[in-house]
Amino acid sequence: MSDITVIGSNMIDLITYLDRMPVEGETVSAPDFEMGFGGKGANQAVAASRLGSDVSMITMVGHDNFGKEQLDNFKKVGVDTSCVGVGDCNSGVAPIFVDPSSDNRIIVIKGANNELTPAVLDNFKHQIKNSKLIVLQQEIPLETNYHAIELAEEFGVPVLLNPAPANKNLNLKYVSKVEFFSPNETELSTLTGLPTNNLDEIEAAANALVNEGVGNVIVTIGSKGALWVNKDHSEIVPGKKVAAVDTTGAGDSFIGSFAHYFTDGESIPEALKHANEYAAVTVTRKGTQKSYPTKDELKELVAVE
Ligand code: RIB
Repeated sequence: MSDITVIGSNMIDLITYLDRMPVEGETVSAPDFEMGFGGKGANQAVAASRLGSDVSMITMVGHDNFGKEQLDNFKKVGVDTSCVGVGDCNSGVAPIFVDPSSDNRIIVIKGANNELTPAVLDNFKHQIKNSKLIVLQQEIPLETNYHAIELAEEFGVPVLLNPAPANKNLNLKYVSKVEFFSPNETELSTLTGLPTNNLDEIEAAANALVNEGVGNVIVTIGSKGALWVNKDHSEIVPGKKVAAVDTTGAGDSFIGSFAHYFTDGESIPEALKHANEYAAVTVTRKGTQKSYPTKDELKELVAVE
């Protein structure tokens, strides 16, 4: 059994680095391309695993070569694959476009991730029951996340829900049951219907969710860090300013590393501080999972600064 169970997506990332985005009808040459392992769920699992957590992933890979490679990658990085299934269709893929300012645009073709249904989770109740934390995102069917939240509630296991990508159909009834809800400003606004244009508005929207029953709302606010709100407390845990080259997967590295530090015994503010540091390092390196350092690499990288 693993301490952290990530229930979610895996994708093959097809990353194009561009000098500028093409306009409609235009063809441009790009200076660089990379293929790598991604998917918000897999990214979060790999970040936690690289930091030393025991991580298990409940996910569906495709019946193609990408699926085999994805399984091999999980094994290589130490993520337990006993709850990984092979679907009846192709693997999920994500064409990604990164511009010189390090920002990205992502298209997701979910493929086998759509086959991670609530019924699949019932095969892995033992895994969910014996976890310290369940981590969810939103690249699999919403009903599967709802079922995961119900099972976790039945077994008394806390849930960390990262509502990415934003989905306006997310049902507040389930959100209200989670211990940690970690959106960015846009995702927070999508769910609450409230504006999130400045810190006061973000805090008010986060408080609205706490009033609905969410244990802790952790809003990622880019390089400014994270705003943590619960019923007794509101605090900004500052981020680190770095020279970013590729922000792809930075949010996932924050979630995965927070899951690691928290289940490793750190307090929430300590875990947030360390997750901010981890995510800051990843944006200074190209690629998605490829940019996630191990515990030892992280020590060296932080020592060099
Ligand atoms: O959050 C980044 C991830 O989003 C990429 O790895 C891509 O696969 C998409 O899921």
